Amino acid sequence: MAFPKNFLWGGAVAANQYEGGYLDGGKGLSVPDMLLGGDVNTPRTFCPKIETGVFYPSHTAIDFYHRWKEDIALFAEMGFKCFRFSISWARIFPNGDDAQPNEAGLKFYEDIIDECRRCGIEPLITLNHYELPFELVKKYRGYFDRKVIDLFVKYATTCFERFKDKVKYWLTFNEINMTLMSPTVGNLYSVGIIQDEDLNRTAPCKFSELKDNPQQRIEGLHNQFVASAKAVKAGHKINPNFKIGNMICHVTRYPLTPNPKDMLETQRADHLFNDLCGDVQVRGAYPFFAKKFYRDMGIDTAFMDNEDDKKILREGTVDFYTFSYYMSNCVTVDETADKINDSMLGGAKNPYLKASDWGWQIDPDGLRWTLNKLASRYPDTPIMVVENGFGAFDKVEADGSIHDDYRIRYFREHIKAMGEAVEDGVPLIGYTTWGCIDCVSAGTGQYAKRYGFIYVNRHDDGTGDFSRSRKDSFFWYKKVIASNGADLS
Ligand code: BG6
Repeated sequence: MAFPKNFLWGGAVAANQYEGGYLDGGKGLSVPDMLLGGDVNTPRTFCPKIETGVFYPSHTAIDFYHRWKEDIALFAEMGFKCFRFSISWARIFPNGDDAQPNEAGLKFYEDIIDECRRCGIEPLITLNHYELPFELVKKYRGYFDRKVIDLFVKYATTCFERFKDKVKYWLTFNEINMTLMSPTVGNLYSVGIIQDEDLNRTAPCKFSELKDNPQQRIEGLHNQFVASAKAVKAGHKINPNFKIGNMICHVTRYPLTPNPKDMLETQRADHLFNDLCGDVQVRGAYPFFAKKFYRDMGIDTAFMDNEDDKKILREGTVDFYTFSYYMSNCVTVDETADKINDSMLGGAKNPYLKASDWGWQIDPDGLRWTLNKLASRYPDTPIMVVENGFGAFDKVEADGSIHDDYRIRYFREHIKAMGEAVEDGVPLIGYTTWGCIDCVSAGTGQYAKRYGFIYVNRHDDGTGDFSRSRKDSFFWYKKVIASNGADLS
């Protein structure tokens, strides 16, 4: 299998899902700090203020905040070439709009970066991974207010300046297209738009009950595009060698039947959910189909005609395209078709595929298909898979071992598919598996949905001593990296 030399093998996590220490070192509250856990059938709960006597998974997460040295040592033992993690904006600017950055927050990340470098691991940093300082949500209604564009750029620039000689690879926004795919997830995690009536609630409410204002949400997304482009431009000025990428959640879609109406519907879903955001960030302009989609949603598209914004988008295109890939699903006009059990992502079941316990359909060939699609859509743009993985219940044996052969199988098939895509000619530069160490699920807030090569003894009822242990997949991935993807046995 011909993976390029210097291929960036590694793993990925996000601050609010693994750090914990939610108020340590002067950090302010982030949106995920306001969420309780759920499960595959129960949406997470949003608390407008912190309640006592309930368990918030992100507050302690897996305690990376205090165990980072031990964890980076484990990544190094696996032979990681790259570690993707995010910076929590609220550690750097606790309220989001503070005049001066918080030195303790910067120092925390600097130590992590230095340790990675010492271990020969290239850091890949996401500036905004599904969390906004909660104060920005309350004060500005998140990205709906254009002031937040400049606040983001100030935060990004602070990180770029501080780490300019230590970090080369950056991503602006994690899964920026989630705002189109799932209004609830988008509002909460991405654009940070929560309506006053929800912020003023006197009792917690289900994630899914939060009000959506589509006009504000779509304008918030536009403002994120502008913020991302401005940050790319500012970053290149600070260090012309920076490589700054975007990040898309690519849920690959097939027509359920050869009915031309299913074909059209699939193309529509692909354009809107998978392509629109990537086109803006890679090509520097909205694609031809965007206005009609938005108008059909009842959106006033005047914001798309702002000439200054158009110029910024053109000037701030990304250096590489990154995406998460977990699954594919099917699209059909037949409303009676069997749906997958994930209300956030939707789609119909594919009779040829098996699914995880969370209903995510396993489709390695879909990864090869997607990589080929992206390489032709964005010629000459390096591509990286920055999330891919298998959320599963793991069983710890009496002797402490964890035989996660299902996870090894998942990775083996997906890495094989990536290798085939490389042979097809796709300019793939790296692969970071999701949740390389067990962490809190973003969708359900569970610990029980485990992705890691490293098991963390922490559970949904808040018990567990956070101790780490190596799963079978740990030793397997180590071999894969050592052989540059040649040995998948
Ligand atoms: C991606 C996110 O959507 O998928 C991660 O970028 C997330 O933050 C991952 O954790 C897996 O989803 P989940 O819901 O299983 O945690």
